[in-house]
Amino acid sequence: MQGRIVGGHTAAPNSIKYIVSLQSTRGQHFCGGSLVHRYWVLTAAHCNIGAEHMMIVAGDYIVNTFEGTEQYAKPHRLVTHPHYNRSTNNADIMLIKLRAPMVLNKYVSLAPLPRQGTGVFEGLVCRVSGWGYNNLDGGQAPFTLRTVTVPIVSSTRCNSSESFNGNITANMICAGYRTGGKDACKGDSGGPLVCRGCVYGVVSWGNGCGDAKFPGVYTAVSKFRRWIDQTIYGSYLRCTKY
Ligand code: ARG
Repeated sequence: MQGRIVGGHTAAPNSIKYIVSLQSTRGQHFCGGSLVHRYWVLTAAHCNIGAEHMMIVAGDYIVNTFEGTEQYAKPHRLVTHPHYNRSTNNADIMLIKLRAPMVLNKYVSLAPLPRQGTGVFEGLVCRVSGWGYNNLDGGQAPFTLRTVTVPIVSSTRCNSSESFNGNITANMICAGYRTGGKDACKGDSGGPLVCRGCVYGVVSWGNGCGDAKFPGVYTAVSKFRRWIDQTIYGSYLRCTKY
């Protein structure tokens, strides 16, 4: 049974206020994301199922159960990174512009992002969270937000022949224990990997879940900080003259 964060535990209610659930218009959770602006969600490019099929839910804790803290928004526009490659998973990052802004309150806040080019080092302990669902389950049971800590794995080790064998690009970071057992999994995609309080990674891909040889692979958000800012703020006119 591979669904949900592996080896973790239930998060405290509304403790990760910037995490959002991407759901089908029928209310089926399929990916996670992070609210980075009242109008914008950061997620993985492979979570793109088409704007008309998506609903974004902020302030959620148990998906499929109405708790009264949720806010719903439809996407206005999906911006997939122009370099996204679905066969290599390179640049697996997407921004979703919402039709209406989320309201920031006790249950909903914005995720801090690292500055462009900020690196992470091997052993730095980060946290990944998500609702990962189980296909077999048909979405009957209520699913509670789960979270697990995982240390950063160097790209050298992650790219070794015993592991991903050269498939880790400079736009990816790996995280997991040498013994495995703790990881993100199917349905956690698009969700945040948080290190030092900032979203450094977006759940992207892997090989199984919690496998000792294969850490989880995340999109390196710091490589895309400029693109994120440009996408969000770039359309405003700047004051170039006075
Ligand atoms: N691609 C998966 C999804 O769509 C997430 C994979 C993450 N896997 C892992 N072992 N960390 O949900």
